[in-house]
Amino acid sequence: MKVLVVGGGGREHALAWKLAQSPKVQQVYVAPGNGGTAMDPELVNVPITDIAELRRWAAAEKIVVTVVGPEGPLAAGIVDEFRAHNMRIFGPTRAAAQLESSKAFSKAFMKRHGIPTAAYDTFSDVGAAHAYVDRMGAPIVVKADGLAAGKGVVVAMSLAEAHEAIDFMLLDNALGVSHNAGVDGLAVPRVVIEEFLQGEEASFIVMCDGKHVAAMATSQDHKRLLNGDAGPNTGGMGAYSPAPVVTAEVHARAMREIILPTIRGMEKDGIPFTGFLYAGLMIDAGGHPRTLEFNCRMGDPETQPIMMRLKTDLLDVMLAATAGQLDNIELEWDRRPALGVVMAAAGYPHAPRKGDVITGLPKDADDVMVFHAGTVEKDGAILSAGGRVLCVTALADSVKQAQQHAYDAARSIHFDGMQYRHDIGFRAIKPTGRAE
Ligand code: AMP
Ligand code: GLY
Repeated sequence: MKVLVVGGGGREHALAWKLAQSPKVQQVYVAPGNGGTAMDPELVNVPITDIAELRRWAAAEKIVVTVVGPEGPLAAGIVDEFRAHNMRIFGPTRAAAQLESSKAFSKAFMKRHGIPTAAYDTFSDVGAAHAYVDRMGAPIVVKADGLAAGKGVVVAMSLAEAHEAIDFMLLDNALGVSHNAGVDGLAVPRVVIEEFLQGEEASFIVMCDGKHVAAMATSQDHKRLLNGDAGPNTGGMGAYSPAPVVTAEVHARAMREIILPTIRGMEKDGIPFTGFLYAGLMIDAGGHPRTLEFNCRMGDPETQPIMMRLKTDLLDVMLAATAGQLDNIELEWDRRPALGVVMAAAGYPHAPRKGDVITGLPKDADDVMVFHAGTVEKDGAILSAGGRVLCVTALADSVKQAQQHAYDAARSIHFDGMQYRHDIGFRAIKPTGRAE
């Protein structure tokens, strides 16, 4: 069987790598892929990003199932397009993808269905937004309503920061957020302003077929650029699985209070959710999980350690998930933890530099994989081509050992200006957390 993975990041490299391990898979294609998927003899890159063109290509190639990595094509309706031509694809429709693509939609959805989240209000009027912030006080969180590649959230510790964020997002639209059309059909800039929540974050990711749910292994990522979770927010500088903060009790609560009501709520609202559903949780000291955000896809870099731990044949899982039969699937996980360290380009996250030559890549192994993200292959060499360049991921008997193995591999790799954190996993390895 031929399968297609849509996307070109580390998440897609990991999904494609896992799919290629299925004995039933004849070929895995990745569109558009990256330097790592280009070099992998098991994978073939397809240089198509236009959705209709990709659907025609997939039909001509007799692709059995398509798996979508990033939110962009989902929000643009790739699932609707493939399904309209009776092609199997795993992901949410454009309408269901609003859980991620519109903060205003997802907050209103959570309120309507009683799903625990921060108290909030939505604004398109600048004056009203400023007045609200003055009334509520700091710290407070300002979020652009629209896809902003992880840059649309300002956690304001002072009122001045909150006011600045409102002007930045509403007046200038300096983020270039593609704002969603409101109920009146007008695409006006909007922000969600919400209560600041305290606790520890975790990524709670499940697969849904519209009705049934299968939970992925738990994970946590590090969103900040610098050691100690300091510095600017990024797409994620590293991740590990499992997440110790998600105890069996927190897991049960997240399923009962967040995931299942979301799936039932979407069904009730007439937009059943299919695909990966990622709830970003804030878990307070009492083990009470609340939803910070929904993503309608897997996390990047969470996917990389999660895929290294998955023992079940991913093709079987995808076939069941696209047939409404996830209840027949038992996901099996390697008991060993996995941990991935992201190596980012000079200037990331604000202005990543491209074109640096990457050397010293270790040979892939079952327990240490270098998943590529922003890379391209050129004349047999691998060059950086994006902000997050590589995710060095290791599987070992403990988080500490996985951390050591990942950093050992990372140390052999070089490209000019590379930056990576030295403490990925520290919340799961107390007390010192450092591997080097
Ligand atoms: P989001 O894209 O909504 O997940 O926000 C990005 C990051 O901002 C999250 O991972 C949190 O670290 C932080 N954040 C978002 N909302 C809140 C909140 N209500 N309280 C505290 N931190 C938040
Ligand atoms: N690692 C966070 C995300 O994928 O959104």
